Amino acid sequence: MLRVAVPLDDRSYPVVIGRGAVGELGDVLPSTARRAVIVTQDRVPLASEVTDVLGAAGLDVVVRTIGQGEPAKSLATIGDLSSAFAEVGLTRNDVVVSLGGGMVTDVAGFAAACWHRGTAVVHVATTVLAMVDAAIGGKTGVNLPQGKNLVGTFWQPSGVICDLDALDTLPDREWRCGLGEMAKYHFLTGDDLLALDLDERIARCVEIKAEVVASDERESGRRALLNYGHTFAHALEIATEHRIAHGEAVAIGLLFEAELAAELGRIDQARVDDHHRVVVEAYGLDHVLPAGLRADQLFDVMGRDKKALTSMTFVLDGDDGLEVVGDVPEAAVRTVLDRALAR
Ligand code: GLY
Repeated sequence: MLRVAVPLDDRSYPVVIGRGAVGELGDVLPSTARRAVIVTQDRVPLASEVTDVLGAAGLDVVVRTIGQGEPAKSLATIGDLSSAFAEVGLTRNDVVVSLGGGMVTDVAGFAAACWHRGTAVVHVATTVLAMVDAAIGGKTGVNLPQGKNLVGTFWQPSGVICDLDALDTLPDREWRCGLGEMAKYHFLTGDDLLALDLDERIARCVEIKAEVVASDERESGRRALLNYGHTFAHALEIATEHRIAHGEAVAIGLLFEAELAAELGRIDQARVDDHHRVVVEAYGLDHVLPAGLRADQLFDVMGRDKKALTSMTFVLDGDDGLEVVGDVPEAAVRTVLDRALAR
């Protein structure tokens, strides 16, 4: 079993990674908890294992299932969960246990953050995307009709369990989404993550994220580097009305943003080729834009990205590694966009 610490002073917590990691769930529960509400979805693996471990730890266990997909990531779901917490008498000493992918960890984390102004949450991540990204670092939230993740909090979990047994039944598309986020980590530190086995690679991604989060928990600067590939990815998700899922879009975004960095003279073609080698050859992810996209629409959405406080902003590679770069010349973005759309 591998263990990585997220070092945040009195809010530090362990991430446990490996087959059978759910057996360690009892060790990351708050000692005050007498009751646990498991927040999950239909057909999520490890449901009976999690219930058994919590029962064996002496907790009363209640399960609440939320809906699937982005529409269920809503304030209405937070209202339903809060009512469920009230009905079972969940106290501030108790614990919410999320069991699922990134949508579940975001929603359950937010509900726990709001319940009695802050109740402990433990994430049991069952997708690669949740293990390497969503469950780590304390971002929680839900969507509004006006946009994704617009309402949320920073609320660190008491622990995160990444049980690789859950990945045995992970659908192909979910794998692709996780691998898109995982590919991002190759460029944050320059580590040769491809040399590592899956459990070690997940642990290394968690370690990289933990280090970034510890240095800038509330994203006043450096944490934004975790959004490499995301400016173009968000535009793509919106322009395709989410027919392209987040992690798939991140894979394409990494390649787009590498080409943009080259267009701006920040990196050479060999470095762009490195991106291609990792994203396309090693992880087998798609790099071709879907047909029918309009340059104008993608361009407009990138200008409205939430990192773009005053101008077009990207995380870009360069001699000193990744950096947040504002005031990116629109002509360069246009050139790379037109080239990508013409392929
Ligand atoms: N997913 C990016 C972050 O947690 O900051």
